[in-house]
Amino acid sequence: MKLGSIINAQQFTKEEIQAIFAIAGDMMIRPARDLLELLKGRVVITLFYESSTRTRLSFESATLRLGGNVIGTESAKLFSSKSKGETLEDSIQVVSTYGDVIILRYHKEGGAERAAKYSRTPIINAGDGIGQHPTQALLDVYTIQQRYPEISGLNIAMVGDLENGRTVHSDVYLLGKHYPNNTFYFISPKQTRMKPEIKEYLNRHNVRWVEVNDLKSVAGEMDVIYQTRVQKERFEECREIYDQVMAQSEKLIINNEILSLMKKDAIIMHPLPRVNEIAYEVDRDERAWYFKQAENGLYIRMALLIMMMNGY
Ligand code: CP
Repeated sequence: MKLGSIINAQQFTKEEIQAIFAIAGDMMIRPARDLLELLKGRVVITLFYESSTRTRLSFESATLRLGGNVIGTESAKLFSSKSKGETLEDSIQVVSTYGDVIILRYHKEGGAERAAKYSRTPIINAGDGIGQHPTQALLDVYTIQQRYPEISGLNIAMVGDLENGRTVHSDVYLLGKHYPNNTFYFISPKQTRMKPEIKEYLNRHNVRWVEVNDLKSVAGEMDVIYQTRVQKERFEECREIYDQVMAQSEKLIINNEILSLMKKDAIIMHPLPRVNEIAYEVDRDERAWYFKQAENGLYIRMALLIMMMNGY
């Protein structure tokens, strides 16, 4: 079996998730010299219309570690023919003849789905506007599983800009579908609450969720606190609202005071990049798992490339 295009987090079966996690675990321990034949002769295309540090570089590193080659553009709005007026559909029809998979980050929701209709190769959604970021969800759930192997009976706080943060959308879809015995606490400024369709999805799957205004009041009950930044780039035409959201976000910052309230075995996660929502003093605490989480992205993405190109 081979994985096809990855468009959203709900598409995965539990068997696929287990296979991805098993191969990712193998990637962590296999000697580097044993991996170099796995993608030999393959070309991975990274097409990023929005900026990225982790997603693009971890996919590129994953490809190179597996012996494949990478072509692409990191600022496709400027450096691809988008700047001359070419549509996404035309670009994809052409570019998909140059490689074996396209890793696409697009600035509008639905970009990956549109691309997949015109591509000769699988598409991996590396973030589509305020839509989803399914490979982030896989690495996030993999990270949670390292701490809590059953991922059951947990209180999981999703904190920050829940309306525009695509990682929390994908996380909730993936966890809600396959790990139902948990409770979500959605904690955000009132202007950026979790999308109604995601709450409805949880209701349909009988997953408990509550909306809370204040992190401090629930921090002591959480097993996972998943912090996110306010997505400044989504407020370009409404700076006033952005300023209001930032002001409200002050009370959601994770700092030593929040740490002192948290369970000793809880974990703090963040997809990164951070702005001010986790104080640097938190980094030294053993519950700060966000850099380990980012590293896991490399192994998860190695697994995905293998499963797409070689099968499993
Ligand atoms: N987490 C994440 O998507 O980070 P980048 O924007 O740096 O890729």
